[in-house]
Amino acid sequence: MNHHDTHLSHFFQQFLLSKSLAKRASGPYNIVPQELLFIGGMKKYYIKTYGCQMNELDTEVMAGILERRGMQRVSEIDDADLLLFNTCSIRDLAERKVMGKLGQLGRTSQKETIIGITGCMANAKKASLFQKLPHIDFVLGPNNIHHLDDILDEILASKQQIARTDDTFSQELDYLHAKRTDTVKAFVSIIRGCNKFCTYCIVPYTRGREVSRPHKDIIEEVRYLVDHGIKEITLLGQNVNSYGKDQPNNHCLFHDLLYQLNNIPYIERIRYMTSHPVDITQELMEAHRDLKTLCEFIHFPIQAGSNRILKKMNRHYTAEEYLEKVHRIRDLVPNIALGTDIIVGFPSETEEEFQETYNIMEKIQYSTAFLFAYSPRKSTPAMRWKHQSIDDPVKQDRLQRLINLQNNTSTSQLKKFLGQEVEVLVERPNAKDRSMMKGRTRCWRKVVFPGDASLRGSLQRVKIHSYGYQTLVGERL
Ligand code: SAH
Ligand code: SF4
Ligand code: F3S
Repeated sequence: MNHHDTHLSHFFQQFLLSKSLAKRASGPYNIVPQELLFIGGMKKYYIKTYGCQMNELDTEVMAGILERRGMQRVSEIDDADLLLFNTCSIRDLAERKVMGKLGQLGRTSQKETIIGITGCMANAKKASLFQKLPHIDFVLGPNNIHHLDDILDEILASKQQIARTDDTFSQELDYLHAKRTDTVKAFVSIIRGCNKFCTYCIVPYTRGREVSRPHKDIIEEVRYLVDHGIKEITLLGQNVNSYGKDQPNNHCLFHDLLYQLNNIPYIERIRYMTSHPVDITQELMEAHRDLKTLCEFIHFPIQAGSNRILKKMNRHYTAEEYLEKVHRIRDLVPNIALGTDIIVGFPSETEEEFQETYNIMEKIQYSTAFLFAYSPRKSTPAMRWKHQSIDDPVKQDRLQRLINLQNNTSTSQLKKFLGQEVEVLVERPNAKDRSMMKGRTRCWRKVVFPGDASLRGSLQRVKIHSYGYQTLVGERL
């Protein structure tokens, strides 16, 4: 659907809505119809976000749309007239969590409460959700966020269940009105969707093909955010390295975009995620060396250390090619920290192949690692390799071995910070001890130190004297 159609249909729906309400309102007794009372009463919304940073940002965009309808966010389900569950389908557990919550709501929620399922599970399960969860009012996929306003009008008018789950993203979102809660950092979407089709992954089926956002819009948004006090921007995409390739006429690839953003006055820090190893360019590596604002951290998921498994995952690189890129990055930027994602127990993974993952992880010494047991996902090729599946206890055992390895790596890395001075962007009071402030280094290490909320948003030099679990502790200089 193009922009024009959407606009027309919105107008038309508004017209129909006001017409039907007016007709019912004009009886001899001047009774206010239910719908009018209800629209007047729909003031409070609750949103729960599952999944990744893209979902967090989509939540902020939806919150912006709702606030523009005059609604207010509440933190308790019982206080809300509208409940949104912005869901994730990446692993079975992510889906089960939401389904459990939604099933429970079906038994307790008030009839008047409108309930919507948004996010990746909306696209993964589409209208079939209405069968399992008959009390749900609408299903709205990540490519249809801009329909939220219309959908609410339609539901209020018709009380029919509605599902909108387009395969591909086609309409620029109103990011400038996103309701941001963080005053120091912000996520900025640069490319939506994914064309990579890793054989285990559901994302290409829930978010559709890659669509880059025009660089002018990104720059305008970042300027706006920085003007409003934001110090750190994280550029988001399933594969930021693909940025711009689908819009060759714009002549702006990912590193070009970074150079332009780096020139925005008063921007302190730029990060991004995620970077697919096959597409990382020499120019991007050099940008890490040359751009003052670009932080010394790359989330650079390897997924597995065995070439046979990498091939079966459709990752398009070998362990050797990956390592060569790591060396090149570290040669250019010696103090850069690397993060990773790893899946254990991929169909047919042998103990020896798992060992290859273990060994390469040990060799690379990641600063952060998100470690997962493989979970079969509907529509993906790997789902069909059921006969090769690895037993759960084996998966869990492999996972635990990697967790132990990473804990040891983290501890030895944290030790190296003792006595060092680091630059911390101060984010917020530490939840456990409010006399301490929390922030991160440029290389994405968590740091806590004594301080008060007046330091929020400032850059501080902190001298590290000790460490806790994944956290450095120091004193402000
Ligand atoms: N686009 C990003 C990551 C998206 S999902 C990238 O390519 O790096 C985040 C992580 O979830 C993936 O990196 C992968 O490690 C993990 N993941 C994805 N599908 C999975 C599955 N079916 N089972 C277990 N982990 C999975
Ligand atoms: Fe999924 Fe692979 Fe795309 Fe990442 S790159 S979102 S893992 S298909
Ligand atoms: Fe993110 Fe989960 Fe979708 S990780 S892209 S919300 S499946």
